[in-house]
Amino acid sequence: MENDFNKEEKNGLYKAIFSRRDVRSNFISKDINTKVLTRILRAAHHAPSVGFSQPWNFILIKNHDTKKTVKESFKKEKQKAAKEIDGSKKSKYLSFKLEGILESPLNICVTYDPSKFGPFIIGKSSVPNTGLYSVCCAIQNLWLASRTEGIGVGWVSILSNDVLRKVLKIPDHIIPVAYLCLGYVYEFSSRPDLEKAKWLSRLSLDEVVFYEEWDKKQSPQWNEIKNMIKANLDYA
Ligand SMILES: Cc1cc2nc3c(=O)[nH]c(=O)nc-3n(C[C@H](O)[C@H](O)[C@H](O)COP(=O)(O)O)c2cc1C
Repeated sequence: MENDFNKEEKNGLYKAIFSRRDVRSNFISKDINTKVLTRILRAAHHAPSVGFSQPWNFILIKNHDTKKTVKESFKKEKQKAAKEIDGSKKSKYLSFKLEGILESPLNICVTYDPSKFGPFIIGKSSVPNTGLYSVCCAIQNLWLASRTEGIGVGWVSILSNDVLRKVLKIPDHIIPVAYLCLGYVYEFSSRPDLEKAKWLSRLSLDEVVFYEEWDKKQSPQWNEIKNMIKANLDYA
């Protein structure tokens, strides 16, 4: 079959991928329109999932008291995490803005239900984590679809799942996977905030690609791509 993505469509997808950001600030108070939110949720729901188990649920949250409880949990967990850091990095970590729970008009908790469709799911027996991986695929779809709608998403993982369970009435067998903050933004940063703050930098593609075996950095039959990656050439 001929590729049924034309150049413009391909560029659109790559633009969403490369310009997606984790957003913690710059939110504006404009509400997300129902049609747009439905499109984003539908995109998330069309993610791949192990054995087609679709093990996700999306809890949509606007209630201010709920958000305040979640924010309190964030504050506690952030302080707790700071104890693991030594020296000047600690104050740097504490100065970072790492959530936009109250500023964003919509929060979404994405959960994983390991029991959906019963105990046997095709593909899950050998690697049970594939259920969780599926939920992460849905989150990525949601993140990219939001970006194309001009909506920023921030993933807040500095939270207690026990607090989330309690405030959102999540049953014991369901696992909270992500707490997301969504909203329109003034702008999307061109680079990750943590990169701009010189916390960590993006690795080169060359560092993360191996050829045929773990840690094998070259092999004659892979020279062409190796050179292209090293020269930082584009897919075009
Ligand atoms: C599983 C996961 C958990 C994350 N948790 C947080 C978080 O608690 N707070 C935060 O500010 N960013 C969080 N992030 C966002 C990352 O810091 C961000 O993706 C990374 O710095 C790269 O930036 P970018 O997403 O803008 O490209 C999380 C991202 C992922 C994938």
